[in-house]
Amino acid sequence: MKTLIHNIGQLVAVPPGPVRGRAMRDVPLLADAAVLIEDERIAWIGDRDAVPDRSPDLAIDARAGTVVPGLVDCHTHLVFAGSREDEFVRKIEGASYIEILEAGGGIRNSMRSLRAADEATLLAQSRPRLDRMLECGATTVEIKTGYGLSPAEELKTLRVIRQLSAESPVEIAATYLAAHTIPPEYEGRADDYIDAVTEDGLLARIGTERLASFADVFCERGAFDVEQGRRYLERCARHGLVPKVHSEQITCTGATRMAVELGAASADHLEFVDDAALAALSDSGTIPVVLPGCSFFLHSAPAPARRMIEAGLPLALATDCNPGSCMIESLPLIMSMGATMLRMTPLECLVACTANAASALRMGDRLGTMTVGYQADLLILDIPNVNQWVYRVGVNPVSRVIKRGRVILDRS
Ligand code: NIG
Ligand code: FE
Repeated sequence: MKTLIHNIGQLVAVPPGPVRGRAMRDVPLLADAAVLIEDERIAWIGDRDAVPDRSPDLAIDARAGTVVPGLVDCHTHLVFAGSREDEFVRKIEGASYIEILEAGGGIRNSMRSLRAADEATLLAQSRPRLDRMLECGATTVEIKTGYGLSPAEELKTLRVIRQLSAESPVEIAATYLAAHTIPPEYEGRADDYIDAVTEDGLLARIGTERLASFADVFCERGAFDVEQGRRYLERCARHGLVPKVHSEQITCTGATRMAVELGAASADHLEFVDDAALAALSDSGTIPVVLPGCSFFLHSAPAPARRMIEAGLPLALATDCNPGSCMIESLPLIMSMGATMLRMTPLECLVACTANAASALRMGDRLGTMTVGYQADLLILDIPNVNQWVYRVGVNPVSRVIKRGRVILDRS
């Protein structure tokens, strides 16, 4: 199957990730371009007058619009039940995220809702969120567990993630975040809880059934300390789960350095990152993932993204979509926040949500890029250039979404 996209006004040739520092804004832009797709891969990119194959099976007119790689949302908690707008209002009135968590709300509030929902209900509540992410241009989405907080409920969540992945054309990466917080039945016994959710038979099952590719831990006051986080991630890694970490979100715990020591795929949040952690990230393959939607939502200081890029780091951005700290499903909205709150250029934002986000999922060698030979995941946008996407906040210009060479959404 050969598909030609012609009449492209601006083709954004994002290189394969990780894309570091300055290179994030020096992305080649091709005017009057065309792309040829063969089966699942990008076969040719170039000038619209130089197309090598004049008889494709399908020809798509981009109507002078912009073509970019499909977006990769590398950090979400989108499988959850219920809703927490009551806490949202309490936070507006002055309560802090950590106060609500320590008073038994927050993640534990969502835990109660998830435990009360059967698999079909959880699936039915989660599916529309994934559909809306696709509408906004996400072709690959990572999804974490972490509201079950017991072996049985975490497995239930993993099965729902697997079912979403079977039903949706969006590619899903699953993350086992049993170490999200301590459930009430283990109050004051965090170490015992870690033992329960890293029991060998349980992890062997998750690993061999490929229910998850990554393991994640929330290192913070009200959740786990760095040594507990290390133990959790090391045990998960023995069963093939690649480490990730929620680090330095509310306080600087040192979790980022621990993540680097373990060879983690990413260290996420980083609002309170210190110089030592930034230095550790510089010499590592661990991708820093910044979540400005969280700062927007919690009215707190954002991570020093500009400083990270100037230091040559391959920064990624993600939604962190979850019911507590960031009820945002749109990755393009996060790109706009990257521009206004983090002072990133639109191209830096795009690279952060494509090539570098793919690298945060260890998929940078296959997707997140506009490169011949790579997977044909791409978006046709109804705007003349990529800057407009970030500039026109909240307007959705996605016209067509192509995943593995196939049109999976047509809004044209
Ligand atoms: O990334 N901080 C920990 N986990 C999520 C929030 C989860 C929740 O509040 O439901 C986050 O911000
Ligand atoms: Fe998160």
